[in-house]
Amino acid sequence: MLAMMLTSTATVLVAGIVSIIYEVTAFRSASVRDLSAQAQIIGENCAAALEFDNPETADATIASLRARTDIEAACVYRKNGSVLASYPHQTATALTTFPKVESEGYRIERGHLALFHQISRKGEVVGTVYLRSNLEEHYARLGAGITVALAAMVAAWALALALAARLRRQIANPIMELANMTERVRNQQDYSLRSKKHGEDEIGVLTAGFNRMLEDIQDRDAKLHQAYLELQSSEDALRKLSVRLLQSRDEERRRIAGELHDATGQKLAAAAMYLSQIDRSSSTLTQTEQEALTKSLALLDESSQEIRTLSYLLHPPLLDERGLLSALPWYVEGFSMRSEIKVVCDIAPNVGRLPQEIEMALFRIVQEGLSNIHRHSGSPEAVIGLQKKGQAIRLEVRDSGKGFPAKRPDGLPVVMGVGITSMRERVRQLHGQMEVHSDSQGTTICVTLPLNGAET
Ligand SMILES: Nc1ncnc2c1ncn2[C@@H]1O[C@H](COP(=O)(O)OP(=O)(O)O)[C@@H](O)[C@H]1O
Ligand SMILES: [Mg+2]
Repeated sequence: MLAMMLTSTATVLVAGIVSIIYEVTAFRSASVRDLSAQAQIIGENCAAALEFDNPETADATIASLRARTDIEAACVYRKNGSVLASYPHQTATALTTFPKVESEGYRIERGHLALFHQISRKGEVVGTVYLRSNLEEHYARLGAGITVALAAMVAAWALALALAARLRRQIANPIMELANMTERVRNQQDYSLRSKKHGEDEIGVLTAGFNRMLEDIQDRDAKLHQAYLELQSSEDALRKLSVRLLQSRDEERRRIAGELHDATGQKLAAAAMYLSQIDRSSSTLTQTEQEALTKSLALLDESSQEIRTLSYLLHPPLLDERGLLSALPWYVEGFSMRSEIKVVCDIAPNVGRLPQEIEMALFRIVQEGLSNIHRHSGSPEAVIGLQKKGQAIRLEVRDSGKGFPAKRPDGLPVVMGVGITSMRERVRQLHGQMEVHSDSQGTTICVTLPLNGAET
């Protein structure tokens, strides 16, 4: 609105100033034109009088100027500069009030226009006519002209302001309303808001378009929200499923370990016992039978050993009976022997027995971590660190191998497998945090579990 007012004011001002300058210039040239035409007429009429040096005829000619109220003085000079005739008539003493003769030209001074015009006859200058006009009347006309121009200027300005106010009501206000509505929609994220339509003109079309756009956004927002809710609920279902999966895997391992140890192991032990009751040195057995008996007993012993190891790996009884502090060194020692990787087990003395689900989770993470070091890292050594810090337990599984590959052999980015994903899932269930740092110097997996946040 301010811009509109400033623009119309500036336009009206410039137009006014230009028209006043034009008036003043036009007034000047009109006055000069008029007086020089009059001087020409007097000159032509006095030419003969000058030639014959006849002041009476010249006097009579310039006496006709009485009709012109604006001409105050007139004078006809002879070629030598002396006065032949003058108006109003001058006595010899008053002659000095007329200026000395000058060359062709004019000047404006103190409200008067003075003009000299040379009179020629047969191509020869015979004298000069001098006219002096009072510009007061002309100035009065000019003043009236300027007043009219100023009045027109003020009227145009008032009209421009009235138009600007009307335009503001019709255009600027609805546009401001639209802008405010955009701001409200953005701040409140409320796409059900609508802008009021004021008419059927271009602004009305713009408002309707804006409202239609809001309808579309509202529609899409609702669909997006619905899709988000569905995604969230399937993510929830997936989480619950993975919790149950991990739990049932642990239970299954525990069951199979028990079965192998208590049933199959016992049966193998019983078979070995029965076979050992046969007297291998008895003469009733042939050499081949004696050898078969010895090999069978050795195989039974080996199988019992393997079954025991397998059942302990599936679920070490030490973990339930004596906790992580005993199970972890036992497992690490066996792993070192099987894999030929030197593992240092650094367990802080203040780590006592922990809640069962935490011990189970930490044990499984160490198992998966060491198995990854064996399968992927190429590291000859590993470190397992376990510390208790306040109400949290911190586990670190570190190797000095080649680190995670930047890309898979087929060029695609590395995706975490089941191992790392199930580690993360276990940690998430216990409200803990897990970080994996890996570079060409090795890989470190850090897990922090709160001791009071365990799910029971
Ligand atoms: N200690 C490690 N050193 C180097 N790479 C590793 C290590 N642990 C895991 N990785 C990389 O991360 C990938 C995912 O591991 P994981 O989730 O346990 O799945 P998987 O062992 O079945 O491949 C592995 O295939 C391997 O490329
Ligand atoms: Mg793995």
